[in-house]
Amino acid sequence: MNSQARKIVIAIDGPSGSGKSSTSRGTATRLGMRYLDTGAMFRAMTWWMLESGIDVHDGEAVATAAGRPSIVSGTDPQAPTITVDGTDVAVAIRGEAVTGAVSPVSAVPAVRTRLLELQREVIGAGDIVVEGRDIGSVVWPQAEVKVYLTADPAARAARRALEEGGSDVAATQQSLLARDRIDSGRATAPLTMPDGAHHIDTTDFTLDEVIDQVVALSEAVKDRA
Ligand code: DC
Repeated sequence: MNSQARKIVIAIDGPSGSGKSSTSRGTATRLGMRYLDTGAMFRAMTWWMLESGIDVHDGEAVATAAGRPSIVSGTDPQAPTITVDGTDVAVAIRGEAVTGAVSPVSAVPAVRTRLLELQREVIGAGDIVVEGRDIGSVVWPQAEVKVYLTADPAARAARRALEEGGSDVAATQQSLLARDRIDSGRATAPLTMPDGAHHIDTTDFTLDEVIDQVVALSEAVKDRA
């Protein structure tokens, strides 16, 4: 048996609130794999741009600065961490200021190139569940398992508002849909269902049921290895 072949990458893409984070962390925990939240890396880059006084709507300024911050992601699915130049930004990157600015920053090609390099470094060792928007299409198209999660906008907004400690659901839905439009419409690595992905609409499933489905897909791949 070839132990190399058993190291797999599970790519989980989809829009915000589709259940990516909980599904990815739950799957990685069950399978004893690492976990990478690429959205947190885009948020960390955005946090740094805001802290540095860079106009996030000035694509050239964002591109020029994109190489400067040092962004480090910890990959324990039960306690993921993210730092920028050594500062723990796990809480700060979930705030409104970052959420409102992350889509335009993520649309800048130089930002994507920089983070793509960091993402591939982490993913390279294998046995990892990676969540994002372009993992199965651009970052790691060779992933052994590709999943594309969706859910009804109302369900997505309700989940996200709950995560954010009871924010207004209607406002959350507007903000999600606005981000979807930018994330899906950008020229570089737009949100899209990758070739070969398994589509799961999570609206009517519990979290455990979704994790069961992803674990089953992964075990089928491992069995074939
Ligand atoms: O998953 P999230 O909501 O934390 O992601 C925040 C933003 O980061 C999202 O609006 C788009 C961007 N993103 C991206 O462009 N590519 C990824 N692989 C992950 C996130």
